[in-house]
Amino acid sequence: MSISPVSRRFPSFSAKYMALWESYIKNGIDETLDPTDKENEFPTAWHRQHYFDVGYDAMRIVVQSLLCAGRDVPQRILDFPCGSGRVTRHLRAMFPDAQIGGCDLYASHVDFCASRFATVPLLSKENLDQLDVGTWDLIFCGSLLTHLPEALFWSTIDFISRSLSPSGIAVVTLEGRHVLHIQDHKWKLIEDDLFDVARHQYHEKGFGFVDYNTDLRASLFNAQESYGVALTSPGWLMNGLSKLDDIRILGFSERDWDDHQDVVVFGKPGVNA
Ligand SMILES: C[S@@+](CC[C@H](N)C(=O)[O-])C[C@H]1O[C@@H](n2cnc3c(N)ncnc32)[C@H](O)[C@@H]1O
Repeated sequence: MSISPVSRRFPSFSAKYMALWESYIKNGIDETLDPTDKENEFPTAWHRQHYFDVGYDAMRIVVQSLLCAGRDVPQRILDFPCGSGRVTRHLRAMFPDAQIGGCDLYASHVDFCASRFATVPLLSKENLDQLDVGTWDLIFCGSLLTHLPEALFWSTIDFISRSLSPSGIAVVTLEGRHVLHIQDHKWKLIEDDLFDVARHQYHEKGFGFVDYNTDLRASLFNAQESYGVALTSPGWLMNGLSKLDDIRILGFSERDWDDHQDVVVFGKPGVNA
C-alpha cells in the first residue's frame, strides 16, 4: 500500500504542534485588556477568567482543525475579526513566529491588537466585497457570522474563501441548534420578542436573523448598518457551502466553541482543484 505525502508528513507536523502547545501553556498569554472594549465586561472574577478560557478553547479547535485537515504549522494567520484580542492574544502565544493579521471594523480594536500582540493592522469595511487583505494559511473567524444578515453572511464566506492561501483553511463559528436551547433554558441572547423573529425564520428555512435594538446598535455597533443575532442550521449552511467549488468542506461540529457555538472548517484547494 502506498502512503500519501500528507500521511508521511503527519507525524512530524503533529510533533511540531505538540511542542508549540506545550510552550503556549507553559508561557501563558498576555492578559492586558483593551480599555476601549465595550463588548466584554467583567462583573465577576468568573467572567474575566471565562474570557481567557474562551481563547484557550479557540486554540484547541484551531490546532485540532489544522491537524485533522493535515496542514503544517501556519505561517500567516488572519484573526478576522480580532475585536479586542480575545483570541488574538492566544494566537500570538501559540504561534510566536507567525505573521498575524488583526482585522476589524473598528480602528481602536485593530490598533490595540497591533500594539499588544504585534499583529499587522488591517481595517475592515462593512461591505467585504471591497476588501482585500492578501492571503493567509489560517483564518479564524470567531463570532462574526453569529451577528450578520444573510447577504453579509455570504459575502463574508466569499471574502474568507478568496483570502485563503493555496493550502489555507478557515475555522468559522456560528450559532446553531444549541442556541435555541440556551435562549429558552440558560440565558438570553436578546429579548424574547426579537429572538422569536429569528427563530421563526430559522424554522422556516434554516437561517434566521434579527437586528439588535436601535439603542444597543447606537451605543456599541455604530459602524454597522445591520448587526444582531443570526441562527444557522447545519443543513442550510452545508447546502450553501456545497455550491462553492473554490473551497472544500473539511469539518463541522455542533456546540463546540465554549460549549456553545458551532464550528465549520473549510479550505483550499477547492473541491475539484
Ligand atoms: C463578537 S465580536 C468577536 C471578536 C473576536 N473574534 C472575539 O471572538 O472576541 C464581533 C466583532 O466583529 C467586528 N465586525 C463586525 N463587522 C465587521 C466587518 N465587516 N469586518 C470586520 N469586523 C467586523 C466587530 O467590530 C466586533 O469586534
